[in-house]
Amino acid sequence: MLDTLIVNIGQLLTMEGDGPVKGEQMKSLPLIEHAALGIKNGRVAWIGSNEEAEKMSASYIIDAEGKLVTPGLVDPHTHLVFAGSREHELSLKQQGISYLDILKQGGGILSTVRATRAASEEELYEKARGHLDRILSYGVTTVEAKSGYGLDVETELKQLRVAKRLNETHPVEVVSTFLGAHAIPLEYQNHPDAFLQQMVDLMDVMKRERLAEFVDIFCETGVFSVEQSRIFLQQAKEKGFAVKIHADEIDSLGGTELAVEVGAVSADHLVGASIAGIHQLAHSNTIAVLLPGTSFYLGKGTYANARAMIDQGAAVALATDFNPGSSPTENLQFIMTLAALYLRMTPEEIWHAVTINAAYAVNRGHEAGRIMIGRKADIVLWEAPNYMYVPYHYGINHVRMVLKNGKVVSERGKGDVSVS
Ligand code: NIG
Ligand code: FE
Repeated sequence: MLDTLIVNIGQLLTMEGDGPVKGEQMKSLPLIEHAALGIKNGRVAWIGSNEEAEKMSASYIIDAEGKLVTPGLVDPHTHLVFAGSREHELSLKQQGISYLDILKQGGGILSTVRATRAASEEELYEKARGHLDRILSYGVTTVEAKSGYGLDVETELKQLRVAKRLNETHPVEVVSTFLGAHAIPLEYQNHPDAFLQQMVDLMDVMKRERLAEFVDIFCETGVFSVEQSRIFLQQAKEKGFAVKIHADEIDSLGGTELAVEVGAVSADHLVGASIAGIHQLAHSNTIAVLLPGTSFYLGKGTYANARAMIDQGAAVALATDFNPGSSPTENLQFIMTLAALYLRMTPEEIWHAVTINAAYAVNRGHEAGRIMIGRKADIVLWEAPNYMYVPYHYGINHVRMVLKNGKVVSERGKGDVSVS
């Protein structure tokens, strides 16, 4: 006897397979039509046809009404925990002041640092929990969360403790990343290497208290150079962390090549990645995490070269980059639309990028991003009639119900969901 049986599934995207999905393989989507799915003890226990489901018994039956069912989405790049907001930057942007100029003047990331230092742990928790509720409502069951708005010992730890507590108390799994090297704080403007050393020393506390799995750095003009990033990430690896890089987001510095060189689990942004960097990435195990929401919101009209990456054989993932400056949105479905329009990714590629490849980008490929017998039942029931519909009808939420570990954790009334 099953705990839960989902019947009448029009399209079931299982994403069944092995390992991250690279290049050409991203074009074909493992999909079953007229399917049904059984859950027992929080795990996927049975997959069959809708006719076969008539012979199955379960305590709870969900009728998918002929619509789409997919794995829970994975958002592998967010800056979830912060205080304040930066709506005033929108008009600065309209006046032609660039993102990096705002940062240079002590605004941007540094203004969020001031607000985050001033906030209590409880305030940060409450605010991040609200954002995480919304992330879940859009169908995301695993999320990565970076620190990086403290840039001092006390506040970085405060942010990471909030992420840890969210992971323990919220249905969404939160994978934590230490991004102490996100900007140079004002008090260290002339001593960036001393600042980086302080952040390296902090990693020991993080290991002891299990506060972070990944270490990340913002490798960018006016922030940290390729050479500083190389040393920092090597030290992080020696201390037992997996690493990620904010690479070639605005200027082309060679962060993509560095990601491959240091064996980063993911290289993120990649808007300015060189042809050589893309080639190396495609022949490595590093996942390319693309963030078209940030390109859209920075408003410069330049997007990562996803086509070259996929055509050369890279494994591409997509993320929101949710943060208060360059991408204030929790909506991964909107990112799927941007990927279709501006990264020219096909719907099949896009679904790989928000499920299994995103799971690999946070070292969760063995347990998230696929619907397979024995895996945790992280599942989304959509109001959409097929997988192509989600990126097509844009700006709204197509999710009807989200299950995490087999339990319904988010459900919207009929009146709330889109009518297709
Ligand atoms: O991924 N580039 C650095 N970090 C974020 C932006 C953070 C912020 O503006 O607060 C990003 O774009
Ligand atoms: Fe980011």
